[in-house]
Amino acid sequence: MLVASNRGPVSFGFAADGSLTSRRGGGGMVSGMMSGLTAAARQDDVLWICAALSDADRAVARQDPGAARAGGEAPVRMLDIPPVMFTEAYNGVANSVLWFTHHLLFDTPNQPRFGPGFRRQWASYAAYNETFAAALAEEAAAAALPPASVLIQDYHLALAPRLLRNTRPDARIAHFSHTPWAPPDYYRLLPDDVARAVLDGILGADRAGFLARRWAGAFLDCCEAVLGAEVEREAGRPAAGGCTAGGSAGGTAGRVTYRGHTTEVAVYPLGVDAPALRARAREYDVEAHAAALAEATRGRKLIVRIDRTELSKNVLRGLAAYRELLVTRPEWRGQVTHLAFAYPSRSELAEYRAYTERVHELAREINDEFGTGDWEPLILDVKDDYPRSLAACRIADVLLVNPIRDGMNLVAEEGPILSGRGCVLVLSREAGAAAVLGGDALVVNPYDVTATADALHEALTMPAAERQRRCAALAATAASLAPGRWLADQLSALG
Ligand code: G6P
Repeated sequence: MLVASNRGPVSFGFAADGSLTSRRGGGGMVSGMMSGLTAAARQDDVLWICAALSDADRAVARQDPGAARAGGEAPVRMLDIPPVMFTEAYNGVANSVLWFTHHLLFDTPNQPRFGPGFRRQWASYAAYNETFAAALAEEAAAAALPPASVLIQDYHLALAPRLLRNTRPDARIAHFSHTPWAPPDYYRLLPDDVARAVLDGILGADRAGFLARRWAGAFLDCCEAVLGAEVEREAGRPAAGGCTAGGSAGGTAGRVTYRGHTTEVAVYPLGVDAPALRARAREYDVEAHAAALAEATRGRKLIVRIDRTELSKNVLRGLAAYRELLVTRPEWRGQVTHLAFAYPSRSELAEYRAYTERVHELAREINDEFGTGDWEPLILDVKDDYPRSLAACRIADVLLVNPIRDGMNLVAEEGPILSGRGCVLVLSREAGAAAVLGGDALVVNPYDVTATADALHEALTMPAAERQRRCAALAATAASLAPGRWLADQLSALG
């Protein structure tokens, strides 16, 4: 079995003495796939192909491809893609155009503008996809038991399924989108040929997977509207392999026939490996952070958010909602603390740097406006500290997850699993997770700051028995969508 993604399960760096250091790759896609492989005990027969992201990765890719193992688990082959081609494909197209499109992030009076610069980046994106497809074709040919199953991940590799099919028509190919998918009117912001190429690329796969029915539906709509493909829709039928957890959230969404080939489109909501997560959160480092955070917040009610400082995560409106709570319900002043962990993300992009600055500014304003000698209303921390994030989930009274749009959102699932206090989840209706968790969360329109402030108040005042009941239900749902099953269902459907 072959897995392909831009970011791999491991990344390398150089220590001060020049020796190589390694760490696990981050982000929802990598952690879901890694725990899926571990739970399904599929590390042995997997090769994970990813891009070399740093100079140290490139050094490994050139000198000793066998050294690139994910913590001694799945073998990894890193592709040494020329840095300029990589940057144009990753930052220029994947992050600045495709990510923005699927998350509806463009400031449309000004952006996007597709000119010659974009055309150069698009050529790099195509070449980057060709590099992956060639490596996959080579490994598929070498597989002990052809035909190989090939799992291609995300918007970075939208063209690779078609390119691979052209050279290895015998391979069983799946593409999985961990992001939302844009509705046709918005998707059509892309230049026409690009819009068609991305859809056609994914339709080279036998199966196209999504985290939520909404995203699968939007993909089907785009195939019909943009390509004029033959689209058949199916409502709520469980997928082959039986992915029925979360009610009708999982299952077949439909099929698309285009250029003589049919692609099954299906929904696989992704949850959390609850036993492993709980065990990790009982370790000493998490205990120590939980004690330190409790001390810093001194028994006050705790509203927690944990995100990358990512435009789609809507940190600014979340902070504005907290400010509105303190303005309109002054009784909470001195009684509540907001812990906002906003880890750095994609700082190569100017929009992200400006956004991060505005987050810091707003945080300072809130503390200046309301803070007192013995109360800091908002603790904003931008240091990426996994054990401390787990500790914050354990002691949160309210977890705020308010993205503008999100493929799924694993924090919304991890929080209730870890909560020792029966935390209330305030959840954006635009997160894929809302399809499975919405019934037991307080669901908000992420653009509506006032409604979000109201939901925070409702969460803070919810009776203990109801909080416990909802939190237990959220945790049970998240645990039922275990990554091992998410992966096993995809593999059995691929045949
Ligand atoms: C999140 C998304 C994934 C995406 C990843 C890329 O985890 O859920 O869909 O692949 O971000 O992040 P990166 O830091 O590699 O650009």
